[in-house]
Amino acid sequence: MPPDEFRSHAEAVGRWIAGYLEHTRNIPVYTSPEPGFLKSRLPDEPPGGGEAMEVILEDFRRDVVPGLTHWNHPSFFGYFATSASAAGILGEMLSAAVNVNAMVWKSGPAATELEDVSTDWLRRMLGLPGRFEGVINDTASSSTLYALAAARNRAYPDAHAHGLFGQRPGRVYASEQTHSSVEKAALTLGLGRTGYRAIPTDDRYRLDVSALKMAIEEDRAAGFVPVAIVPTLGTTSVAAIDPVAEVVDIGRELGVWVHVDAAYGGPAALVPEVAQRFAGWEGADSIVVNPHKWLFTPMDCSVLYCAHPEELVRTFSIVPEYLSTAEGAETRSLMDYGVSLGRRMRSLKLWFVMRYFGRFGLRARIEEHLRLAELFASWVEASDEWHVAAPVELGLVAFRHVEGDDRNHAIMARVNASGRAFLTHTAVDDQVVLRLAVGNVRTTEDDVADVWALLQDAAAASG
Ligand SMILES: Cc1ncc(COP(=O)(O)O)c(C=O)c1O
Repeated sequence: MPPDEFRSHAEAVGRWIAGYLEHTRNIPVYTSPEPGFLKSRLPDEPPGGGEAMEVILEDFRRDVVPGLTHWNHPSFFGYFATSASAAGILGEMLSAAVNVNAMVWKSGPAATELEDVSTDWLRRMLGLPGRFEGVINDTASSSTLYALAAARNRAYPDAHAHGLFGQRPGRVYASEQTHSSVEKAALTLGLGRTGYRAIPTDDRYRLDVSALKMAIEEDRAAGFVPVAIVPTLGTTSVAAIDPVAEVVDIGRELGVWVHVDAAYGGPAALVPEVAQRFAGWEGADSIVVNPHKWLFTPMDCSVLYCAHPEELVRTFSIVPEYLSTAEGAETRSLMDYGVSLGRRMRSLKLWFVMRYFGRFGLRARIEEHLRLAELFASWVEASDEWHVAAPVELGLVAFRHVEGDDRNHAIMARVNASGRAFLTHTAVDDQVVLRLAVGNVRTTEDDVADVWALLQDAAAASG
């Protein structure tokens, strides 16, 4: 593409993005498309000759955009928010432009060092000690897999050389509220389904530490090898905060690796009152925090902090001749910290976000989300028809209409069909519960008030 043509398309794309961000509130957050709607519109065969960029961009606007679920919409309250701030989008655009692949220092010196700096800045913002070294992965699922791989190699000193064949069975422990990525990691690491033990929770949906301790001791007596314990700070269904200090103590006492899943809740440690509730996480062996969830950084960006980076490197480092470098001893080779060789320069968008908002700007936005969640919960509590289904610990409210699972599903379907807000559900104590996750950088009190009005209208209409 000739440079002048590129310049003109880049300006058009920049204008489109600016308009999209300015007016996202006015487009449907979700259009309830039928499965197959897009495939039926697009040709089966790829084009033989090249097409004009104007036409491609027009098809993107006409066919693709209306079929998206708009995570950047201020009334997107489903799952956990992953909102792209403008600063983060600019960082993402530039990382595509320079297209660096930071496998080893030489293949991306500034990218490698910016990953050191940005993960270290985030560590300081979260109040974690300097022994934690950060590395950026695509998702928390990968970060957890890599942490548990290092934990597995510590638990089975021969595994690195010989695998797990002929070894005693191993187990990873987490609460029954834990995200499925932990069980998936145990499966991927060859521990099998029996290699994951879900521990009961207390009346606030927090991991029951005495049940945990008993389970590990019982398993040890039965010949299992405890591999890791995974407490969560902000569980997926209800944002429960596991008693991490007690779990870390148990890990130390029994010699078991503790990996903290703070994928969602981690950024809230910027708020001093929340940081107090995370006290003890600094004693963990590894921690995952996702800037792409609650730190306004576009997908994908997950930071794995490890207090024993040498164990991660021992687990993953294989250096063929074509990747060996003279600087090896003085610098990090990011390829040594996980499975991927090629890696995007994800640090750029995180660095942009931290610089643009600053520590206090980020904290203020998270504090506002915490306030909005409390406010919404107070409206729910004040109503006879609704109740809050779990304590509100962070930016998430789990709530339910009093009249049964079907009614709750019907209400959610109506709200989502309106295109004016988007919610998702979960199950708590075997009951359907709706979730309002506040975490989008553009969400205001009016948006939260609007979804509450929508929910009440939908309840009246579905009765
Ligand atoms: C607590 C928790 N951990 C892990 C994950 C997985 O995150 P990712 O999509 O980055 O793999 C999620 C996803 O929502 C989550 O809520």
